[in-house]
Amino acid sequence: MKVLLVGGGGREHALAWALSRSPLVDQLLTAPGNPGTASVSERHSVAVDDLEGLAELAKDEEVELVVVGPEAPLVGGLADLLIEEGIRVFGPSAKAAQLEGSKAFAKRLMAARGIPTAASREFDSPKEAVDYVRDRGAPLVVKADGIAAGKGVTVCDSVEQAEQAIRAALTERRFGDSGSRILIEDRLQGDELSVLAFCDGTNILTMEAARDFKRALDGDRGPNTGGMGSYSPVPECGPELLDRVTDEILQPIAEALRAEAGPYVGVIYAGLMLTSDGPKVIEFNCRFGDPEAQALIPRLDFDLAEPILACVEGNVADTKLAWKPQTCVTVVLTSDGYPGSYQTGYVIEGIEDAERLTGLPVFHSGTKFGPSQEVLSDGGRVLSVCALGDDQRGAAARAYEASEQISFAGKTMRTDIAKTK
Ligand code: AMP
Ligand code: GLY
Repeated sequence: MKVLLVGGGGREHALAWALSRSPLVDQLLTAPGNPGTASVSERHSVAVDDLEGLAELAKDEEVELVVVGPEAPLVGGLADLLIEEGIRVFGPSAKAAQLEGSKAFAKRLMAARGIPTAASREFDSPKEAVDYVRDRGAPLVVKADGIAAGKGVTVCDSVEQAEQAIRAALTERRFGDSGSRILIEDRLQGDELSVLAFCDGTNILTMEAARDFKRALDGDRGPNTGGMGSYSPVPECGPELLDRVTDEILQPIAEALRAEAGPYVGVIYAGLMLTSDGPKVIEFNCRFGDPEAQALIPRLDFDLAEPILACVEGNVADTKLAWKPQTCVTVVLTSDGYPGSYQTGYVIEGIEDAERLTGLPVFHSGTKFGPSQEVLSDGGRVLSVCALGDDQRGAAARAYEASEQISFAGKTMRTDIAKTK
């Protein structure tokens, strides 16, 4: 089978690595890919926001399956374009991708099916929003409705802070149209967890849990980022809790999507808070998490192409997943200043040394080739260094030892991934 993988980050390098090892995949293309995917696929320089260009590439290359990594092309309608062309695609339609594209849409579906989540209200008037927070009191969470590059959520300890967040979104329009409508939610307390599942439109195949470290600094301090590291499995999320998440959250949301938006084919990612009342949804995403994918994929003890194909063919009920018992820890190496401004274009050294130590590829998150094919930093998140170990401690020690092998100007990382929880 000839497969096109769309995207160019660490998640896509992990997906490309696994797909390139599949006996079902004899040719793998990536668009745009990155220097990491270059070693396992044929790269095509079509950007993820060039939906027509991607559809054309898939058609010209007679691709039999397109796997979409990031959310933006899905929310923009790439799956719809490909289906119109008769090309199979792993990733939901634009309408179903509203699960991530509109937090208000996701909340309405959850409310209709009684899926546990924080109580919330929608506002587009700043005055009504301010009246609500004054009445409700802190703590609260103010969220831009649309996709705001991970920056649209403000967790507020005080009413003043909530008022500021309301002004930023609705009056100053700091998130553009994404923030022309906001949600104000009650704040949930507990530990966070990511549970991802394959969905064929009807049935759910739940993966083992992962945990993502969103804050920039050690001790979960500093601003929110795309993710500074991850690990899987999560000891407090065993089979019983995973079954509960499947039955109370994932299966009902798949059914709600089917009814409201048509069958959802792809990954449903549930960001959860483990509250004293059980797991509650913080958000849904319409794709693999990054860096959750980098901690899940090295643990796969099966061919990733199988569940992906099962989703596209409607066979998820007949598919089983198998996982290595080991823990995988992923440490993300970033450019100093991220998630604020940072410099790029620095030569990266030591990737092979790190890979020798872990026996796994170092996944490229934001890199590019320089004029002599040297690898240069090219993003806020630069590399995802993964290691397997018998437990969290062992895997983390190895991932950090490997991270120390790698050098580039401005290299930063959290030093407590998989150690704090
Ligand atoms: P999101 O972009 O929706 O994942 O939100 C980013 C982060 O904000 C989450 O990972 C949580 O840490 C926090 N957050 C969002 N919603 C809530 C909530 N209702 N209660 C507590 N924390 C939240
Ligand atoms: N790691 C969070 C996300 O992929 O959205």
